[in-house]
Amino acid sequence: MADSTSDSNANEFGYRSFRLGGFNFHRDEYFVHIEWPGGGHLMPADKFLRALIRDVAWNFFYGIINFDEVFGTTNHYGTVDIFAGLYNAGYRSQNRHYTENFESGDARAVFERMLEDWTNEAFDPFAAPEETGSAFGPKRGNNSRAVQRKRVVAKRMVGLKDDSPLRSDAAGFPVNRQFLDVDQSEPELHAEPGFEDEVHAFNFFAYLSRSDVTWNPSVTAAVKDSLLCPTTEEFALPVIHGNDRIEWFLQLSDEIHWEISDRDTGAPRARAVMKPGDVAAMPADIRHQGFSPKRSMLLVWENADPGLPELYAKKKLKPNPVDF
Ligand SMILES: [Fe+2]
Repeated sequence: MADSTSDSNANEFGYRSFRLGGFNFHRDEYFVHIEWPGGGHLMPADKFLRALIRDVAWNFFYGIINFDEVFGTTNHYGTVDIFAGLYNAGYRSQNRHYTENFESGDARAVFERMLEDWTNEAFDPFAAPEETGSAFGPKRGNNSRAVQRKRVVAKRMVGLKDDSPLRSDAAGFPVNRQFLDVDQSEPELHAEPGFEDEVHAFNFFAYLSRSDVTWNPSVTAAVKDSLLCPTTEEFALPVIHGNDRIEWFLQLSDEIHWEISDRDTGAPRARAVMKPGDVAAMPADIRHQGFSPKRSMLLVWENADPGLPELYAKKKLKPNPVDF
C-alpha cells in the first residue's frame, strides 16, 4: 500500500496536504477539506483535530468513529474502512457514499503525520476548550508533546509494579481546576508477606481528578477482556461513536447529556441525562455523543472480546443486555 499515500509540500498557510488512497486532505486557516472521487466535505480544524487525535490514540477504537455526520472510520481490527457518507441517510439514499479499506497501520501513519503537521503549538486536541489555545490561523510550530501522548493502558492495574504509574504533582499531573475538592488521601494496604506486588488499591477519584485530558478512556484495570476505562469529560465528545458491542457507563460525578441515535442511519433514538450513580448499557446498535457542561468523571466498562462484533452483526446476541 506504500504507493497509495503521499504528502505534499506546505501550502500558503504552511500546512502540508495528505493523500490516502482516493482521499485527499488539506487544511487552511479555519477548515480541513476532505475530497474523494465524486465528493468533498469540510470540517472546522479544531473539531477535525480533536476527532483525529482520538482515532489515532485509540487505534480506531471499537466500531465506528464518526468525526461528524459525514466522515469517519470503521475498525475491522487489522484493516480499517475510511468513509464519507456511509452512515448518513442522505448520502446513502442518493448513493453518494464512498468507502475505502486500508491496512490499519498505513492509515494510522498518514493520520499521525497529518495530526503532527496540522496541530499548532498552542492547541492540545485532547484538552478541554477552556484549557487550550486556538487551532486556527496559519501554521505556528507544533505540539508534539500533546499529539504523541500515549493513552494509559494498564496490563493489570495502574500503580502495580511494572504497570502504568499513578498520577502525581511530581509526575506532571496536578489536580484539575474543577476537581480541587476531591480527597487525595490513599488507602492503607497491609499485604501478607510475599503478596506485596499482588494486593493493590488506590484512590480512584484522586487518580481521575489528575487526568489532563478529556474524552479519552484509559484502561486502568484489566481482567482478561474486561477493561475498566474511566475518563474525565468536559464540553462535547469530539466524535460520534458507533458501537460494535455493548458499553456500560457508570456516571461517577457531575452530569453528562447523551444524544443516542441509530448507528447506521443517525435517526434519533433517545436522550439520556446521566447523574452521579446512574448506570447505562449503551446498546451495540447505536451511535452516541456526550455533552458534559462541567468536568465530570465517567467509568466506561468495555468488553474487548474480539468475537463480539460478529455475534452482534449476525444477531446471535441481542444489542441490549437487559430487558425491563
Ligand atoms: Fe460508545
